[in-house]
Amino acid sequence: MAFLTVHFAERETPFKLKIETPCSAFEAYNQACKLCGIAPRTRNCANGTCGKCRARISGRLSDKTQEELQKLSTQELAGGVRLLCQTEILGDAEIFASTADSSDLAAGKMQIVSAGFGLGGRIADYSDYSGFGVAIDLGTTTIAGLLFKAGTDKPLSSAVMPNPQRTYGTDVITRISASLEGRSAELFKLVCGAIDTLIEELCKKAGTAAADVSRISISANTTMLYLLTERDCTSISKSPFSADCLFGFSLEAGNLNGKREGLKAVDKAASVYLLPCVSAFIGADTVACILSLNIEASSRAAVIADLGTNSEIVLFVPAENGKQAEIICTSSAAGPAFEGANISCGMCAIDGAIENIALVNGKAEFSVIGDAKPSGLCGSGLLDAVSVLRQLGQIDESGTILVSDCADDEEEIFEAVADAGGAKAVLFKDTSTEISLSQNDVRAFQLAKASLCAGLECLVIKAQIDAHSIGRLYLAGGFAKSFSVQNAVCVGLFPDGMAQNAKYCGNASLMGAALVLQDKTARAKATAIAQKATVFELGGSKQFQELFIKCMALKPQKL
Ligand code: FES
Repeated sequence: MAFLTVHFAERETPFKLKIETPCSAFEAYNQACKLCGIAPRTRNCANGTCGKCRARISGRLSDKTQEELQKLSTQELAGGVRLLCQTEILGDAEIFASTADSSDLAAGKMQIVSAGFGLGGRIADYSDYSGFGVAIDLGTTTIAGLLFKAGTDKPLSSAVMPNPQRTYGTDVITRISASLEGRSAELFKLVCGAIDTLIEELCKKAGTAAADVSRISISANTTMLYLLTERDCTSISKSPFSADCLFGFSLEAGNLNGKREGLKAVDKAASVYLLPCVSAFIGADTVACILSLNIEASSRAAVIADLGTNSEIVLFVPAENGKQAEIICTSSAAGPAFEGANISCGMCAIDGAIENIALVNGKAEFSVIGDAKPSGLCGSGLLDAVSVLRQLGQIDESGTILVSDCADDEEEIFEAVADAGGAKAVLFKDTSTEISLSQNDVRAFQLAKASLCAGLECLVIKAQIDAHSIGRLYLAGGFAKSFSVQNAVCVGLFPDGMAQNAKYCGNASLMGAALVLQDKTARAKATAIAQKATVFELGGSKQFQELFIKCMALKPQKL
């Protein structure tokens, strides 16, 4: 029996954990994260090659492995930095998580991805609450918020933080499972605590007090709203996945779960409005996107694609020849590749992430967020990497990495080489870092892209329209912020004819929550959208499966 003390950047006091030794430092650290409600490291290579589990650790430890000696710089080794996946704890030990990139989602590093907030010209009639209001986009991965003064159209402050429920899994399915296994109260407390923290930060930035917040509006997917209200998730967990609550009502901040528990930062009587959902899979976040982009006013067909772990897709078809206007929604499980997750060198779109790669005069050039040293690839960097490698002939149409015979280190950048674990394409390399794409990474990207592209094709076929008639393809989600149309076209990210009309629309879900907060008329509009929208299920669709297989190919699309 021994003790592990973990110094988290997110906690003022160290956390002490009783451990059985010997044990993996990686596992023990993750256990401490889980107990503290801090996003743990997701295991990447687990074999000492990706270098993503660096942390300073001291105490009774196993000897350094060959992988650590190769991966860590002399300075890091002298400073006590180890690779957690390579280190065994043999007795009392201490981990200083703050010295490493303890989480890709360290709150301070995240940015609200927005095309520019402000509701100027959008408000028909100001809501009649007093004091301050907070609009929240409660995402599966992150929580973003805006603070407004009543009767105004510009936010006073913005803030974003990781959703601490990530400790129970990165996707909604694992969180539903955790809730059904008796952890609904823990999930509820975690998210309430996070929203309290977010509101306090928003108020601190604006120089006001959280106690003066009297109204909150929350946009989220259906599962997140179930967990926020501690509802029984049974109805959304199994076929026919018919949600027994679609929200679209207000609760008291201090009583979100019907047991007199809820938010603590604001007055317990403050009103919390939960935007309406369409179904178990099409949530209030999609409704908020439709509302904020005002696509119903468009005279041409329009598509919204919210690119995340689950890509929600909306197709609006205007009224024509006596046919009523339609809003058709679907959701395709893209996997987390568009968010840079579950990729060996993947990371969130924060400082150090390669976000864009372009071929300039036949050579690959990349840009890194924050002009920092590259430390990984975010979603848009992944798209660009696959596309550039494809253009260079290092990956073929089926997605297979074509190994080069070239052994010259200089030439290895953007070259595919053989590796102990299989083929890999090296994108960046210096004495301490190597960023490369494995065959599995390319496959993960193909799955995400095929899911999105096939989903879009199915919607267009269902609506019996031509993809070329779509006037605008709105892209939401962090991935879309830096996305390159040219690279998307090269790998066939969208069906033929759609890419040239693509436009990034920022966090449209948060914008929708802000409209509902500040505009008295927006609630009725959101309700009407939720009622009017129809859901097209892709699950079990033979057509989707056939298109999915076709869309796996990394084939240039036609404009
Ligand atoms: S997870 Fe430890 S080096 Fe990759």
